[in-house]
Amino acid sequence: MRVAIVGAGRRGIVHGRAAATFPDCEVVAVVDPDAARAQALVGELGGRAFSSHLEAIAATQPDAVVLCSPPPLHVAQAIDAIAAGATVLVEKPVALDLASVAHLETVSRAAGRLVLVCQQLRYTAGALRAKQALEGRRVALVHSWVYRQKPDIKGNWRRSWGGGHIVENQIHPIDLTRYVLGDRGEPTSVFARYGNRFYDVDADWDNWDSYSVSLEFRGGAVGGVATTYGAFPGLPQSSGHDIIAEGLAVRFRGNRAELHWADGSVEIVEAAEEATISMNHAFLEATRTGETSHLRQDYADANRSLAICLAANDSARTGHPITLGWPDAD
Ligand SMILES: NC(=O)c1ccc[n+]([C@@H]2O[C@H](COP(=O)([O-])OP(=O)(O)OC[C@H]3O[C@@H](n4cnc5c(N)ncnc54)[C@H](O)[C@@H]3O)[C@@H](O)[C@H]2O)c1
Repeated sequence: MRVAIVGAGRRGIVHGRAAATFPDCEVVAVVDPDAARAQALVGELGGRAFSSHLEAIAATQPDAVVLCSPPPLHVAQAIDAIAAGATVLVEKPVALDLASVAHLETVSRAAGRLVLVCQQLRYTAGALRAKQALEGRRVALVHSWVYRQKPDIKGNWRRSWGGGHIVENQIHPIDLTRYVLGDRGEPTSVFARYGNRFYDVDADWDNWDSYSVSLEFRGGAVGGVATTYGAFPGLPQSSGHDIIAEGLAVRFRGNRAELHWADGSVEIVEAAEEATISMNHAFLEATRTGETSHLRQDYADANRSLAICLAANDSARTGHPITLGWPDAD
């Protein structure tokens, strides 16, 4: 099977390495306008370096294209890959507006080509175990946070490029909550506020440096998301995602889940490998076989998580809570 990696930055490297470890799979193309980045990944994984995804697709005829380029490029590049007959694994966010997201869905359905969104945290053993353990339990609180420094990726300094805090990172716990709680974990309303206390003096900065979201869930739980880029250098990054249920607290920390039971016992579920590798392999298996039942999310469901994050941005901008429609119960 032949795979093209588009975008050889942080995520392109992770996905390229994941694809290279899938049986009978070769990375045939690495695309990046930054030639040194493309060459470096080709040097490690093989294939050919390109500066244009169109040239790469035409020259190498990949079965699968993995999009790790900046968000504003995803939809057009995905459509080009589909037109060439490839399946697509696209990094989140698919786009920063829902009309573009819907357009890609129409194109992929018409062509009968798989488009999978990289929301990898669904693909850990801990996520599966938590989903099973939370089944039928009442949930009180869902809480996630991240404290980090100003993004090292300059694109993420601009909301119009990266989507802002919640689209950039808290889409993951929001999506994971939806996975482990099913329809009980569908947010029904969102209210967000932001602050910009540190970096607004910098002309290149068009993001928020702190962001707080309040959520209500269909199952009756409430919850919050708090993020900041305001951590100072040297302060270790801190992030987590907790679900407090009746007789059970689930703590997600990176790829690990901790289940704290009412009798005082603690069950630790470590991922066998980094979640992106598992998800990448599930995608390549689907590309090879055409079978998608093992995938833990379809395109429309993935973009429901994005829609929640974009609603949070709208709420932050307008200062008003937003009521969310929710899809049919699963
Ligand atoms: N799933 C996750 O956990 C996760 C984590 C971080 C980032 N991301 C997402 O991954 C995507 C990439 O982020 P990143 O952190 O790797 O950014 P990055 O800046 O490290 O890499 C992006 C690369 O795309 C290249 N690029 C620019 N224009 C291009 C084009 N026309 N064609 C091909 N490549 C092009 C850039 O030169 C750069 O090397 C973003 O959508 C981001 O939100 C996901």
